[in-house]
Amino acid sequence: MTFKSKHIRLFSPATVANVSCGFDVLGFCLDSVGDEMLVKTSSEKGIRITKIEGFDLPYETERNVAGVAALALYEDAKPEIGFEIEIYKHIKPGSGIGSSAASAAGSVFALNQLLGNPYNLTELTAFAMKGEAIASQCEHADNIAPALFGGFTLVKSIAPLKVLELPTPNALYAVVLHPQIEIKTSESRAILPKTVALNHAITQWSNVGSLVHALHTNDYDLLSSSLNDVIVEPYRSKLIPHFDAVKLAAIEAGALGCGISGSGPSIFSLCKGEASANQVKEQIQNKYASTGIEFELHLSKINAEGVKIIDN
Ligand code: HSE
Repeated sequence: MTFKSKHIRLFSPATVANVSCGFDVLGFCLDSVGDEMLVKTSSEKGIRITKIEGFDLPYETERNVAGVAALALYEDAKPEIGFEIEIYKHIKPGSGIGSSAASAAGSVFALNQLLGNPYNLTELTAFAMKGEAIASQCEHADNIAPALFGGFTLVKSIAPLKVLELPTPNALYAVVLHPQIEIKTSESRAILPKTVALNHAITQWSNVGSLVHALHTNDYDLLSSSLNDVIVEPYRSKLIPHFDAVKLAAIEAGALGCGISGSGPSIFSLCKGEASANQVKEQIQNKYASTGIEFELHLSKINAEGVKIIDN
């Protein structure tokens, strides 16, 4: 019998992890930035990365984030077929907007679809975390969960893995500045202190709780006052040129809050309404244009869906 190959092409979104106060637990999904992936079934067993465009990444399955994530699912499902993965990378590695998570989430989502959806989103998150782990040298799901579930997510625990989907207030927009420098997640984790002061812990968990409440109640003022990170930002902001100036410009232009996206160097702002987001974007553009550092600036609605199928 001749083998009839199936394929799926998808958009795998960029994400903002931490969301200021929620280090390693909170994240949200972007709509206007992401990778494309094309995954095909093959009669030859195994996982092969057959094309990578955009950035120089390893083709060897065991060294590629998408490959490792796909292998985790593949070894569990043990199908009688194989898969070929093409990656059209638009999210720069080391950007702080979930580049590795997009690759990992996209590959497991695609395999699951092509196998007839045997796994739920939490199971896919667990497989994708294996891929993310080779990029950041630790397992965390705060980029993968929003990439797969969409919207805002809170990773309640890693073992057992429990992801909570949080509601997204309708008028919320994100502006993301991406200075074109690379910060490795492993390095920006290494500079963090191993212990935190009790007064900082109290402020931080109060902010996480109130941010979650604000999302549930569409309370933009509460959201704004919760977007505050007293634990991680003071250390990591030193790695990001002109962070304080950008934050000040964003807040003065009307942003609800502004902080480091994931492990940086990207900086996110959350805004109420598209007009406000445009103003914030313009102010950040003016501010960063004078630094001489190349940058990209994205304005995005929160993506409620996560990974999207383009065709299959
Ligand atoms: N929560 C992670 C960190 C996200 O901030 O290190 C980066 O992938």
